[in-house]
Amino acid sequence: MFPVTYRRDEHHQIFIGGTSVKDLAETYGTPLYVLDYATMLQRIRQFQSALDKMHPPGEAFYAGKAFLCTAMAGFLNEQRWGLDVVSGGELYTAVKAKFDMAKIVFHGNVKTPEEIETALRYGVGYVVADSLDELLLVNETARRLDMQAPVLLRLTPGIEAHTHAFIRTGQFDSKFGFAMKDGIHDEAVSVALSLSHIKLKGFHAHIGSQIFEEDPFVHNAQKLMGFVLRLWEQREFWPEVLDIGGGFGVQYTPGDDPPDVERVLLKVNQTLRTMTPSGCQAPKLLIEPGRSIVAEAGITIYRVHATKVVPGGRHYVAVDGGMGDNIRPALYQAVYTAQVDGKSVERLFPYTVAGRYCESGDILIPNASLAPIETGDYLVVFGTGAYNYAMSSNYNRVPRPAVALVSEGQSKLWVKRETYQDLLSQDLPWQNLG
Ligand SMILES: Cc1ncc(COP(=O)(O)O)c(C=O)c1O
Repeated sequence: MFPVTYRRDEHHQIFIGGTSVKDLAETYGTPLYVLDYATMLQRIRQFQSALDKMHPPGEAFYAGKAFLCTAMAGFLNEQRWGLDVVSGGELYTAVKAKFDMAKIVFHGNVKTPEEIETALRYGVGYVVADSLDELLLVNETARRLDMQAPVLLRLTPGIEAHTHAFIRTGQFDSKFGFAMKDGIHDEAVSVALSLSHIKLKGFHAHIGSQIFEEDPFVHNAQKLMGFVLRLWEQREFWPEVLDIGGGFGVQYTPGDDPPDVERVLLKVNQTLRTMTPSGCQAPKLLIEPGRSIVAEAGITIYRVHATKVVPGGRHYVAVDGGMGDNIRPALYQAVYTAQVDGKSVERLFPYTVAGRYCESGDILIPNASLAPIETGDYLVVFGTGAYNYAMSSNYNRVPRPAVALVSEGQSKLWVKRETYQDLLSQDLPWQNLG
């Protein structure tokens, strides 16, 4: 829930990465996203330690959808991690960060012809085909470019992880991929193998996000391997890689109990190895963690602008951000933990933390437990590193906050705060059509 460097001093001041929240707020303004370098590094190393123990060693592709900017891509490149992108924009960010293109997986249920061509020209490691139409388009594009497109087929294994419906993707009734049912997956393989400019490298199945149990990950691997074994017997096709996506849960509140990623991954790898027939090499395991790398590394610092008690007794705290910088509570009732900077956590009271946006639904935390809070205080919301900045908007024409990285008492901006000029940068002046 807290970044690994979180601490409070004797005056209850909160420090992240050796830097006080007050200093960060005064230096960069609020609202402010802050990312803790040590936490991201620790999470990457946890995954890497498991991947290194595998035979053959596994490979990680961080899911850029959780949080991506040029500096993040540079950081991942330095860690020798790959990147999962889902759009031309994410791909362009990687290109600008001089990312190793062979370490890119290109996802998404809609990829435009231009995006596919760009990805192939850059030489991405894998294109994950999501539909028959897309397979044909990738083949046609690769033919034009006189190359073989490295392809994974995205499968939906029919595994329903116990997570919010909006972030569940493994069930058959999904907009993503080919269902492993009624021969839909068999047909996809037949088509892929029949196309002259497709090099089928393996399969992908991401079953959802914020998953706490180990079993769905293992069942996913078993289901994929069952299919692979059948393909081997029927067609002598054996995949180089199997990609189980991301989805590893994180702690947003004390009640959340994230899985031990090392144990999960080694169990998954064990499944791959024990189900591999003699004479074949177990497919290389690919993973795409997003949330589990950045969520708990991130905090958002808000300034309190008003407090009020309404008839019925509810105590509102209004802050200078909200659904524009964190849409998750409004989108799928995501729950967060917060603390007041500079105040003891010994005696807490119920508050409703409201955002500044003109929607009654812009409530950041409906049932927060906070120290007595006043206008001018800084409120720190924890666990905001994933799917916050990435999903941010300019609703109400509010500029997006800056993103600062902190490490060992130092801070630096990764993303500048948007200005009013930025907001208007794409606007054109009014002109009469007549
Ligand atoms: C294909 C794919 N891979 C990886 C991820 C990352 O999931 P998470 O952030 O839960 O690790 C997602 C999330 O939606 C996804 O759709």
